[in-house]
Amino acid sequence: MAEDLVLAEGSKEEQYEVLIPQIKGLLDGEPDLVANLANVVAALKEQFGWFWVGFYLVKNDELVLGPFQGPVACTRIRFGKGVCGSSWEQQKTLIVPDVEKFPGHIACSSLSRSEIVVPVMRDGKVVAVLDVDSSALNEFDVVDAKFLEEIVEEIAF
Ligand code: SME
Repeated sequence: MAEDLVLAEGSKEEQYEVLIPQIKGLLDGEPDLVANLANVVAALKEQFGWFWVGFYLVKNDELVLGPFQGPVACTRIRFGKGVCGSSWEQQKTLIVPDVEKFPGHIACSSLSRSEIVVPVMRDGKVVAVLDVDSSALNEFDVVDAKFLEEIVEEIAF
């Protein structure tokens, strides 16, 4: 049984520093992928209150919607399309301060204003992406990139 998340206050760094050991605790000893992805998105959503937090999983030649928290979203994204498909293609984290200025951005909700997408790499290949949307402009920066990359490293795919 998981215990309640201890929510942190303070700077973004301080919040991640308190959250990450708890996420490691949630993942520890649990091999089920869906359970782990579900708890990671729930923990991030609970701590930061972002508009949408979720995973897309690489299945054949598409990204397919996985566990998420937030409003219903697009289910399939092609390689190279949108921020998620671009992160998959470029194999790197993409920070989008204003989604309206990202050519090809896929608007699952008009309320999403900024976004970060972190690829999950295993054996040199992207197996999934973590997508986080905010209803505020300029929400994400290199601090989020660093800690979210650390979090996805912890998940056993
Ligand atoms: N905006 C994303 C699509 C996924 S939704 O934001 C949940 C994109 O452009 O890839």
